[in-house]
Amino acid sequence: MTDAADQLIDGYGRKLDYIRLSVTDRCDFRCVYCMAEEMTFLPRARVLSLEELATLGETFVNLGIRRIRLTGGEPLVRRDIVSLISKLAALPGLDEVTLTTNGSQLGRYAQALKKAGLKRINVSLDSLRADRFAQMTRRDMLDQVLLGIDKAVEVGFERIKLNAVVMRGHNDDEVLDLIHYAQQRNIDISFIEEMPLGQISSHNRQQAYCSSEDLRQIIENKYPLISSTDTTGGPSRYYRIPGKPGRIGFISPHSHNFCASCNRLRVTAEGRLLLCLGQENSIDLRAILRRYPGESDRLESSIREAIKHRPEGHQFSFDDQPQVLRFMNMTGG
Ligand code: 5AD
Ligand code: SF4
Repeated sequence: MTDAADQLIDGYGRKLDYIRLSVTDRCDFRCVYCMAEEMTFLPRARVLSLEELATLGETFVNLGIRRIRLTGGEPLVRRDIVSLISKLAALPGLDEVTLTTNGSQLGRYAQALKKAGLKRINVSLDSLRADRFAQMTRRDMLDQVLLGIDKAVEVGFERIKLNAVVMRGHNDDEVLDLIHYAQQRNIDISFIEEMPLGQISSHNRQQAYCSSEDLRQIIENKYPLISSTDTTGGPSRYYRIPGKPGRIGFISPHSHNFCASCNRLRVTAEGRLLLCLGQENSIDLRAILRRYPGESDRLESSIREAIKHRPEGHQFSFDDQPQVLRFMNMTGG
């Protein structure tokens, strides 16, 4: 366990206890808000190895990180993911290991993931209509994802949450259907405003923007929403519909800047520690891992030093040029 004095605290007094580790930039989908149609992925040697990921996990836990979320790309396209989860879940001092997935491989993996010690799982689901799903993800795999979600429900994770990126004119008319779908399975759902990460050409982000406030209006025309005090320490604001199961969350990077309470760090698939999702500041942990293998002190002090330079925050805008050129698959959602 880390002493309070050793905790990672940045220059603005924010305690960092949560890390998102991207385990691959690859994905079997090509969601329009995340990727270009044609993507070039990293050569394997540039992606962190399983051992490097495990070492990073251990180092961050020594620095007081209490929760690790594995993201991608799509984490389940990495074959050795289950053994990484087992290793991380066994680290003393870590409260939980969680996963964000597109669900395509969940039917196959849900049982093994549960057994490996995974507590909670987030599954992306933007549409329940096959044609739209195929348009938004550029893959015709809705049925496979829905089977995967049912399998996850069946094996009984502590919590399952759906994530839907809502785009005007694409899926904003499915908000109530998605809520019903989640309620029927007694699981949570969050609606996400699209963030301007990476340059995309498939749609105009400003035109597709749909604010969380707009969505609340749509829902409140039908049901009362009771603000919930629940928090998972993240940027979601949660609500409940009285008498109905599950929570409804809103993640609003445009309309509600949540930098002031941001407790998270991110590591890209290449081992860059990002100090802020909305900015380019980062340090190259892979270089340290490969140049000084086994020197965990050096890794720890580099991370501590980097945290001091964590920016206060960012602002997303709809300028022609996104401020951040990384695609989301490099970063993890
Ligand atoms: N804006 C908002 N959310 C995004 N995701 C990917 N790209 C973006 C973006 N540009 C989300 C996906 C998924 C998670 C991995 O990240 O919906 O739930
Ligand atoms: Fe893959 Fe997730 Fe990006 Fe979609 S949002 S392309 S599922 S990494």
